[in-house]
Amino acid sequence: MAEFSSADRNSVHVFAPATVANMVCGFDILGFAIEEPGDEVYMRRVDQPGVRLVGITGDDGRLPRETEKNTVSACVLTFLQHIGKTDIGLEIELHKHMPIGSGLGSSAASTVAGLFAVNTLLGNPLSKRELLPFAVQGEALACGHGHADNVAPALLGGITLIRGYAPLDVIALPAPSALHASVVFPHVDVPTRDARQMIRTKVALKDAVTQWGNIAGLVAGLFTADYELIGRSMHDVLIEPTRAILIPEFHEMRRLAMEAGALSFGISGSGPSVFAFTQNRDQATSITNVIQAHLSERGIESNGYVSGINTEGPKEIKK
Ligand code: HSE
Repeated sequence: MAEFSSADRNSVHVFAPATVANMVCGFDILGFAIEEPGDEVYMRRVDQPGVRLVGITGDDGRLPRETEKNTVSACVLTFLQHIGKTDIGLEIELHKHMPIGSGLGSSAASTVAGLFAVNTLLGNPLSKRELLPFAVQGEALACGHGHADNVAPALLGGITLIRGYAPLDVIALPAPSALHASVVFPHVDVPTRDARQMIRTKVALKDAVTQWGNIAGLVAGLFTADYELIGRSMHDVLIEPTRAILIPEFHEMRRLAMEAGALSFGISGSGPSVFAFTQNRDQATSITNVIQAHLSERGIESNGYVSGINTEGPKEIKK
């Protein structure tokens, strides 16, 4: 693989974070960024025009290597077309630190890292918000659907609300400082594409009323730092009952988390990762440990993470 040096301003090294989409009740409209894991992109300018993906690690060979098919390089190409700079040459390395199909916004982290890298390298011709539509296109390429609830928090950091998709209207929500997340990824593959196809497309009015009451309650709780309101609003009567079937031990993991004092528990994105909100880091750590120990007893390997809300989003890594 090519040697990259961040000291050389013709190159850049970027990290973009994993995200928890849906936040239980807000399917396709709510999400937050966590501190780790995340993906890294190295990008450098070369003389030969065109965008080339020169290496990917951490994907077990599953991601496409062709420029137009890989979400990172395809989005970088679209960005260059948009700013009228298709004559420049770029080489990209992608290092994935989270599994594909984990429910942690794997494709979003890669896409956002690539877009943030090219924008940084070219002196920030666009704002972070202006990068968002490119990242949404990347999600459509990676998952078959352009949802923004992973890319928005991965790019802007914090907790984001997608108020609308046409046109894209993204609102940054406050992140109460004590809020922490326990996140566990059980090693079971649930591709976003499949997990979307199984969802009912028609809902009963009484379920819709419950759902929008919860969404409004959650948003109100975030604005007032009312942790109890946040917790009691995070229930999903539309999507979770169907998707939970794909996640082994889901209801037992919920019971354990709630018994250990979690404010809320649910599926991260389309799963199989799950998360719990707590009011401090220690509690999030013990919930992660309890859930991982339970999965291990059942013969299921997992990764566990503990995180505050990552309000920064993508960042340049300087040596
Ligand atoms: N809102 C999307 C879904 C997120 O639930 O399918 C995927 O990570």
